[in-house]
Amino acid sequence: MPPRPGTVGGMAPSYHRLGQVPAKRHQALRSPEGSLYAEEVVGTEGFSGRYSILYHRYAPTRVTKVAEVEPVPAAPVAAADTTLRHHLLRTIKEGKGAGTDEASGRVWLLHNDEIRVGVSDFGPDPGRLVRNGGADECHFVHFGGGRLESTFGILEYRQGDYVVVPRGTTHRWVPAAAHNRHLVVEAAGGGIRLPRRYQSSDGQLLEHAPYWERDFRRPTELLALDEPGANDVWVRVGDRSAVYTLDHHPFDVVGWDGHYYPYAFSIYDFEPITGRQHQPPPVHQTFEIDGAVLCSFCPRRLDDGPDVVTAPYNHANVDSDEVLYYVSGNFFSRRGIEPGALTWHPRGIPHGPAPGVAEASIGKERTDELAVMVDTFRPLVLTAAAETFDDQAYPTSWIN
Ligand SMILES: [Fe+2]
Repeated sequence: MPPRPGTVGGMAPSYHRLGQVPAKRHQALRSPEGSLYAEEVVGTEGFSGRYSILYHRYAPTRVTKVAEVEPVPAAPVAAADTTLRHHLLRTIKEGKGAGTDEASGRVWLLHNDEIRVGVSDFGPDPGRLVRNGGADECHFVHFGGGRLESTFGILEYRQGDYVVVPRGTTHRWVPAAAHNRHLVVEAAGGGIRLPRRYQSSDGQLLEHAPYWERDFRRPTELLALDEPGANDVWVRVGDRSAVYTLDHHPFDVVGWDGHYYPYAFSIYDFEPITGRQHQPPPVHQTFEIDGAVLCSFCPRRLDDGPDVVTAPYNHANVDSDEVLYYVSGNFFSRRGIEPGALTWHPRGIPHGPAPGVAEASIGKERTDELAVMVDTFRPLVLTAAAETFDDQAYPTSWIN
């Protein structure tokens, strides 16, 4: 396991600015007609952490109606079977319908107080306006693509991207594909951030990091809409939810700057670290999260030392629950695992390669596996929705 993250996040992604901002913070910025734009400071850690300053055409507080609604996605319901065992969830099923948008297509699979893991299947229509006020979201785009529209502007995304949406960001998903599938990790603790050990004390990504600043994509263009009229924003904190009706379109920002904004990073830009000996899971770490780590297992050259077993050893990560989502390729340590399958290995039970795999892996030179792993420090709970995907034969699948 990587070291547990501290509460202070790294500096990356670094400073960014779009559109007009005044020379100094908190100075008047006016439209060509002379009206004052509404400044909004969006900040973390009691305004002592990362922040951005946005300039709106309309004050973001201009609300005409607040209506209580059931949360979308629906709140997690605990599974009936609570047996402590390994689970294999085959999450892509014939006949399972897709949501009308990302929010309604999302199904929670596993959760604790800090972390939720779910999948979302949704169609091509532009999504509703949403704001997650209680958690950062990391979306791994398994298939699909399009653009994320937000108060920070347009962020293009595509298959293989991690799209990180920090809490409090008013946004909507506008897919360009007919079928979209996201793996969603929601982090209610601290923000989703880049591991501290990849950064210098000034926040620059170091040479040994598996990615660099050039790999992170930021919003490129503001929407700067001037559209008076009713617009509903679905706001959620945990499972408390309300629809806020504004008297304007919230994507009215004419300029912003700071370190707090949604960004994208492609798993195909992750540079795997390999060696003569089997490298431990921390070399795959991609994001640091309070209560979890997120890792990327990418196609790579395998260990090439003499007589090295390239398959992972049997392992017991005694103080973590391990969630692995299979994206593509042949995941060589397991058999019968298809893209979209998700394994959950709770603490307390060892797991490892399938029978015969260790022997067969000696001398193997490459792997084409692509998978995303989420290890949580606190135990996870399975949902009733996840139970419908469960392969009951999995816990005894290590017997020949
Ligand atoms: Fe494992």
